[in-house]
Amino acid sequence: MRSAISTYRLALVGFGSVGRGFAEILSLHHQRFVDRYGADVRIVAACTRRWCVYEPNGVDAATLLRAAATNTVGELPGACAWSADQMIASADADVLVEASPTDMTTGEPATTHIREAIARGMHVITANKGPIALHFAELRRLAEERGVMLGFEATVMSGTPALRLGWSNLAGCEIQEVRGIVNGTTNFILTRMERGMDYASALAEAQRLGYAEADPTGDVEGHDAAGKAAILANVLMDARLTPADVEREGITGITRDMVAAAAAAGERWKLIARVWRDGPTVRAAVHPMRLMVEHPLAGVDGATNALMISTDLLGNVTIIGPGAGGVATGFAILSDLLALHRVRG
Ligand code: HSE
Repeated sequence: MRSAISTYRLALVGFGSVGRGFAEILSLHHQRFVDRYGADVRIVAACTRRWCVYEPNGVDAATLLRAAATNTVGELPGACAWSADQMIASADADVLVEASPTDMTTGEPATTHIREAIARGMHVITANKGPIALHFAELRRLAEERGVMLGFEATVMSGTPALRLGWSNLAGCEIQEVRGIVNGTTNFILTRMERGMDYASALAEAQRLGYAEADPTGDVEGHDAAGKAAILANVLMDARLTPADVEREGITGITRDMVAAAAAAGERWKLIARVWRDGPTVRAAVHPMRLMVEHPLAGVDGATNALMISTDLLGNVTIIGPGAGGVATGFAILSDLLALHRVRG
């Protein structure tokens, strides 16, 4: 047992698959974080487009999950009529967790939430990819100026520490190229199609399992992967790309016949994101590609993702792990929070 306990009061925006996954982790393991790390993590406020609740001492995560599942959050003590902006402006909270649905074109309303929270002196952990794909340099600067943390591990490869590997563990290296499978939904669909499932059923299963975006067009047309390619370029290679700068082709043109033809030739279709240095500029692209089965990325199945980071000092470093899903992405929020605790706790 540790003697000094730090309390983290979290305000959550969004309670979809990721927000619920994070709440599930807290409901099951809250005491582990207190005992092992001295971090008492509490959700004090949560807001969606349909409801809001604020309880300064903390809302029990299991109670919130049950109430959200039964549409009865309005009956909880602390239920209120705040919008997300009002919650950020008024709640007594230390950390904003931004987990509202991603808009890869405008980054809103998440970017505004993040700017408001930083201005109030709150740390920010975002699972929302839009703000990091579109406004990373600005948000990082605002956070630095205000002396708060901006956590974004959830935005690429869910809880698999791919971004932290690149920007922290590989610091000192020059990252020359990054390529990999960064969208769980499309990799899940392609894998299922190899086993004979049709495209529509595979997509429906990916939605049921919580991998797909609220609008799965973003996954299958490659927008999600393009956003992640922009994030990788900006975070790991100090570029200023937006998703619109990424060459993009999704998987909607891949038929079962094409999948079968690749298999007959000892190959597999994968949606590959690539970010590379081209002289002084950084470029990025997302395309479906046929890979020989021996290729390191060819064996990555289902919603699993993989990233190969090519560096000058260490050569290639590859990380493989979950790329989507509520608990897997909720874990990324936890890992950012514990990183904050290590520095500030
Ligand atoms: N829709 C995304 C995917 C979720 O399938 O990878 C994780 O960012």
